Amino acid sequence: MADFDIYVEHILDHYKNPRNRGTLENPDLTARDGNPLCGDEIRMDFKVKDGRIVDVKFSGHGCTISQASASILTEMIKGKPLDYVKQLKKDDLLEALGIPIGPTRLKCALLSLKVAKAAVYGLDKVRDEDLE
Ligand code: FES
Repeated sequence: MADFDIYVEHILDHYKNPRNRGTLENPDLTARDGNPLCGDEIRMDFKVKDGRIVDVKFSGHGCTISQASASILTEMIKGKPLDYVKQLKKDDLLEALGIPIGPTRLKCALLSLKVAKAAVYGLDKVRDEDLE
């Protein structure tokens, strides 16, 4: 199987079998945001202990890329310090997705990172520029 096919499989697997999907009761941090182009939304809840993300769940609805990206991102950040999320750049998540993301799908791919950053910074929303 070519590398590209493996990455497509990886995305589809996260879409069909999302990791850390759901909501948390009484989350320490939470945020939600949507893609204004399509109306898709993601919410992310965090439990935090001693500055570390001890649990994270995402919910919402959206396209394959946005949902797979949220699932992959939760795996990347679970157990990590909050500072790890603050330092994550869009290229880190795009690299983890593993397939080329064209400009039209960039908002889909990065929606989850915007939500995670909004939650850890305690903001309502973060701008696309804040992911650079
Ligand atoms: Fe809506 Fe991708 S089409 S987030």
